[in-house]
Amino acid sequence: MSNSKLNNDFLPLLGTDFIELYVANAKQSAHYYKTAFGFQGLAYSGPETGDKEKVSYALRQEKVTLVLTTPLNIHSDIAKHVHLHGDGVKAIALTVKDAQDAFDQTTKRGAKPYLTPIVLSDEHGEIKMSGIRIYGDTVHLFIERENYRGIFLPGFQKWESNYTPSPVGLKHIDHCVGNVGWNQMNTWVKFYEDVMGFKNILTFDDKQISTEYSALMSKVMSNGNGYVKFPINEPAEGKKKSQVEEYLDFYNGEGVQHVAIATENIIETVSQLKNRGVEFLSIPTTYYDELLDRIGPIDEDLEPLKKLGILVDRDDEGYLLQIFTKPVEDRPTMFYEIIQRKGAKSFGAGNFKALFEALEREQELRGNL
Ligand code: FE2
Repeated sequence: MSNSKLNNDFLPLLGTDFIELYVANAKQSAHYYKTAFGFQGLAYSGPETGDKEKVSYALRQEKVTLVLTTPLNIHSDIAKHVHLHGDGVKAIALTVKDAQDAFDQTTKRGAKPYLTPIVLSDEHGEIKMSGIRIYGDTVHLFIERENYRGIFLPGFQKWESNYTPSPVGLKHIDHCVGNVGWNQMNTWVKFYEDVMGFKNILTFDDKQISTEYSALMSKVMSNGNGYVKFPINEPAEGKKKSQVEEYLDFYNGEGVQHVAIATENIIETVSQLKNRGVEFLSIPTTYYDELLDRIGPIDEDLEPLKKLGILVDRDDEGYLLQIFTKPVEDRPTMFYEIIQRKGAKSFGAGNFKALFEALEREQELRGNL
């Protein structure tokens, strides 16, 4: 990495710390993420630990930490969030060396403050935390945990449970995608460039996607070291209602569309997820007829990919395998992607058409096309 690049990185990020979802019933959601996705119970906070306002469960699988938070007080901002948006991502928390500096650097460049820097401490040390607002009601938290040795965050206690379904091989967060409103993509691209020091590494315009299918435009933003990637989608005009528009209608605004989690063996991971009841978008088997002509040879047998509905795409550097869940709540809003990268650094643009056809079938069943 060149010096100028190092100097430019005014917001060095060590990775994604956790993703916090505000949900209507954290106890039941936590059970779902354990049972269906193989997350392990990590930590708990609530009235028993001195928090009368909310309950939070932290779950972990390898480097992926999810926090599920439910309001106990109907007048709280958490309750308003759940009422307006349904279950969804409130915070994408990023690990930093210096939470005060992350706050100063971003707010002086125009970020709206969400959490002025605070110190949380217990017998295991201290965490410094700050936060800024991004699209919709979503926020970034900056977490400085160098001086903390506890299990998760001060205020949490170890979550003891006899129920521990095995992990499914989810390793780390690959990217988090935001859906923003009409003509808002470039506003948020500029935000990530100017305020967070990110770069636009890939662009998909609506012309790359057949207008017969619900169209969108997308730009992928990456931080300096490439650990954190945020594609930003906006709806585009097509013959049918954009999937992004459907999201915006049901989420009542902008928010996180999907979180992509990496695995090192997608066939094994997706087989387990399916056995545990996770629902995926189904892809017509015709997708596989010309797949190898399009992408060239791959290590995997075609049969299990076809059986599971796993998509494959190739770029200059290698290939990737990916699959998308159906929304994980009743509103057609947030979903997950499971991705295995074999050299490819792209996001599966070659699969957009097959994917949009699948999404369109689901939208049609909901009467939202
Ligand atoms: Fe994705």
